[in-house]
Amino acid sequence: MTTGALQSRKILLIVGGGIAAYKALELVRLIRKAGGEVQAVLTKAGAEFVTPLSLAALTGHPVRQTLFMPDDETAMGHIELSRWADLIVVAPATAGLIAKAANGLADDLASTTLIATDKKTLLAPAMNVRMWLHPAVQANVARLKGFEGFHGMALVGPDEGEMACGEFGPGRMAEPAAILQSIIDLLIAPAPSGAERPLTGRKAVVTAGPTFEAIDPVRGLTNRSSGKQGYAIASALAALGAQVTLVSGPTGLAVPVGVTRVDVESALDMKAATEAALSSGHASGHGPADIAVLSAAVADWRVDTIAGGKIKKGPGGPPTLALIENPDILAGVAAPGPMRPALVIGFAAETTDLEANARAKLSRKGCDWIVGNDVSDDVFGSDGNAVLLVTREGTESWPRQPKSAIAGALAARIADHFKPHSGIDGKA
Ligand code: CTP
Repeated sequence: MTTGALQSRKILLIVGGGIAAYKALELVRLIRKAGGEVQAVLTKAGAEFVTPLSLAALTGHPVRQTLFMPDDETAMGHIELSRWADLIVVAPATAGLIAKAANGLADDLASTTLIATDKKTLLAPAMNVRMWLHPAVQANVARLKGFEGFHGMALVGPDEGEMACGEFGPGRMAEPAAILQSIIDLLIAPAPSGAERPLTGRKAVVTAGPTFEAIDPVRGLTNRSSGKQGYAIASALAALGAQVTLVSGPTGLAVPVGVTRVDVESALDMKAATEAALSSGHASGHGPADIAVLSAAVADWRVDTIAGGKIKKGPGGPPTLALIENPDILAGVAAPGPMRPALVIGFAAETTDLEANARAKLSRKGCDWIVGNDVSDDVFGSDGNAVLLVTREGTESWPRQPKSAIAGALAARIADHFKPHSGIDGKA
C-alpha cells in the first residue's frame, strides 16, 4: 500500500483567472499523488484558461462554477464545501480574488466560499509584476496577512522571474511543488512553540554522519554522508522537548541547539557510544531511551588491521586491504530486550528499488520504521531530500523538501506515536 503525506486530507482548490491556472492542474496531480483529495471551484475568469473538464478529470469530482446551481446546492452547497475541506487553496490568486478576500466582498462562489469558511486558506498570488507591486494590491495583501490570527490566511509566493507577459519581476505563481510543500507545512508539519513540547521527558538517541575507518594514521574509508538530515532530526526532536544525544561521525556541522553531541570516528566507536547513550539515555537520566533514530551512514567494512605507521609505496605495488564487516548497530539496537527503545527508526540509503529494499531492511533489522532515501539523486550534502516512510502499516511518500522539513515531519510523527491515544507505548 502506498500512502502519502496528505493521506485523507481534503483540499478545496479555487482556481482563479490567469495564465498560471494551467499550473493548478499540475498542483491537483501532486496533491492527489501525496494522498490528498481535491475538489475544485473554478471562477468565471479561471474557466477562460482551464476547462472544467480537465479539472473534473484530474480531481475525480464535479467542478463547482457558480454560486446558485440547484443540483449543486442539494448535493454539496458552498457552505458544506468549505466545511468538507481541511484547507482552502487559491491558485492562482488573482488581484481580483485577493481584493475580494481582503475586503469581504462575496459576489461569486469563490469569494463567497472564502468568506464563508472557518478553515485555513493558502493563497498563491499570480499577476503581472506592476499589478503585484501596486499599492492597492500590496495593501490588500497586508490586510490579508493581518487576518492570520483569524482562521489563517497564508501566502506562498509569488516568485520572481520571467512572466508570460514578457516582463520580469515578482508576480509569477509559486511552482506547484512549492505550493504542495506549503500545504503540507500548514496541514502536517508541527508548529513547535514553547507550549507545544510533546516529547518532554522522552529520551532520544540519534546517529548521524559518516563513519571513518582508518587504514593507517593518514588514510581511511568513509562515505559521502554530510550528516545534515540526522542533525536536523536531532534538532527537531529537541525542539519538541526530547532529551537528545547525537552520536556523530565526522561532519563539519555545528551542534544543534539543546542537543548533547558525542563525537565518534569509526563504526566500532559509534556502536559503543550509541549503546552507552541508550543505556544512560542522557547524562541526567537512567534506563533505555524511548526513541532511537539511526541515520548514520555506517561504513559496512573496516580494514582487518589498521597499520601503525603510514603505508608506503614500494616495489611490491599497491597494498591489498583485507576488509572485515562492521557490526550492524541498528540491528543490535532493535533486537528485543530490556534496553530496546520503544521506537527504533532506521534509514535505508538505496540507489535502486527503494521501497522493496527499505521494506526488506525493516524486517531484516527488526526496527519499527525505515526512512528510505534514494541516494542516486542529489541527496548527499544537499539541503533537500525526498523520502519514503516505511512502516508495518504501509508506505508514505514524502516529496522533495528541505531536510529540516523532513525532520520536522518525522519528529511530529514520532510525537504522535507517543501520544496517549496511540496506545502503543507502555509509558503513555
Ligand atoms: N546501519 C548500522 N550499522 C551498520 C550499517 C548500517 O546501524 N553497520 C544502519 C544505518 O544507520 C541505517 C540502516 O542501518 O539506519 C541501513 O543502512 P544502509 O547503509 O542503507 O544499509 P546496509 O545495512 O549497509 O545494507 P546494504 O549494504 O544492503 O544497503
